[in-house]
Amino acid sequence: MEIDDKAALVTGGGSGIGREMCLALARRGADVAVVDRDFEGAEATADQVREAGRKAISVECDVTDPAQVRAAFKAAREAFGRLDIVCNNAGISVRTPLFEDHEREWVKTIDINLTAVIEGTQQAVLAMQEQGRGGVVINTASMGGLLPMPGSPVYAASKAGVVNFTRSLAYLAEESNIRVNAIAPSFVDTPLVRQGGEERMEEMSQMVGGILEPDFVAAGVVEIVEDDSLAGDIMRVTIRGGRDFAKRVRP
Ligand SMILES: NC(=O)c1ccc[n+]([C@@H]2O[C@H](COP(=O)([O-])OP(=O)(O)OC[C@H]3O[C@@H](n4cnc5c(N)ncnc54)[C@H](O)[C@@H]3O)[C@@H](O)[C@H]2O)c1
Repeated sequence: MEIDDKAALVTGGGSGIGREMCLALARRGADVAVVDRDFEGAEATADQVREAGRKAISVECDVTDPAQVRAAFKAAREAFGRLDIVCNNAGISVRTPLFEDHEREWVKTIDINLTAVIEGTQQAVLAMQEQGRGGVVINTASMGGLLPMPGSPVYAASKAGVVNFTRSLAYLAEESNIRVNAIAPSFVDTPLVRQGGEERMEEMSQMVGGILEPDFVAAGVVEIVEDDSLAGDIMRVTIRGGRDFAKRVRP
């Protein structure tokens, strides 16, 4: 799909990888709805989209609240008169000691990283089917959804859920011309990983051979939108391998 003059919605667009996705899509000619629970962050991204010459709206939205998600999709369609690209990218990474987590903090990881991705995909597909022009959905998974993560088993489970959810929707390409794909980055330099502290950054960086810049991940999103052959595919983004694809799995 050509990106020029299309409209996109990006969750978690107020920071890190999501912000770079908004900017990469805007530079290719898309208007962008920047959706985030951090309104200031979303506003800052929206300003940068406008500086790139495209329309933008910022929407304060907690993706775990279905009513807020529906309102965000409605706002995007009203602002731009269409919706062609949806990036379900908002996510968290909390390293809670699982077996001492008596408050069940881990549930939040599933709610944001997996349940909200399902919700966002549902809203995107319904909107795109109604418009009848097709579209592209890109869900942010992680290399942690393809490999075990002993330090973060719930995060790994949430991202593995995103991977197989996405793979299971490959059929929509043929049925409705809606291509659902996922992007699975390794370790990326964003506030999410910086919150773990310098020592943890260094440790992770050594383990995976370096740290990716968020704009390198965002360039993968542009690639996925523009390549009409991709559906149910998982783009890996790593320091060692660059951008490539996990083996295609079909039922
Ligand atoms: N940074 C990495 O190393 C890395 C690696 C692989 C995958 N990812 C994934 O990339 C995505 C983006 O992460 P990032 O590294 O850019 O982090 P980030 O913290 O910089 O950005 C995440 C954004 O999501 C928003 N967000 C969080 N919970 C939300 C909610 N409930 N409702 C609405 N917005 C919410 C935050 O406010 C923030 O703006 C996440 O899904 C993350 O799991 C990150």
